[in-house]
Amino acid sequence: MINENSHTQYDVETDEELMNHLNNIIQECKNKPGMLIPILQQTQKLYGYLPEFAIRKISTELQIPFSEVAGIIGFYSFFSTKAKGKNVIRVCQGTACYVRGGKDLLSAFKNVLKVGVGETTKDKKFSLEVSRCFGACGLAPVITINDEVIQRVKSSSVAEIVKSVED
Ligand code: FES
Repeated sequence: MINENSHTQYDVETDEELMNHLNNIIQECKNKPGMLIPILQQTQKLYGYLPEFAIRKISTELQIPFSEVAGIIGFYSFFSTKAKGKNVIRVCQGTACYVRGGKDLLSAFKNVLKVGVGETTKDKKFSLEVSRCFGACGLAPVITINDEVIQRVKSSSVAEIVKSVED
């Protein structure tokens, strides 16, 4: 299977290579104390999210009950158990952005991408998320596309922005 997720840490293509990397991550860290979260972080970088089979493997290898590992994943918002699209669009819904058009901007992205917040387009090109503040409130409303911050975004530009990322 070809790995299409652009958020992975390694330039690998097969499930077998990914599994080898996962094994290395676990073996390097498993006997050191307090390594569950770093292992989960590295695993998420590897796959772009935390697949259930990887969580089960980590749970078994570290001898930590699955429910405990799942509880930790659920506690931290930066962990995701859902596969994400190639591009992650985050629309700020913090106060400054919200009152300066952030609400309409989010609606425009939902309409153009035809997904809700936390969802991924059928072609796996985009995931839509919200954020509370990017620290760029003076230039609201703000979005990010992957690591790029885009400021003073207009709802009328959303289709064009999406198209520019697709091309
Ligand atoms: S509220 Fe949106 S960047 Fe701060």
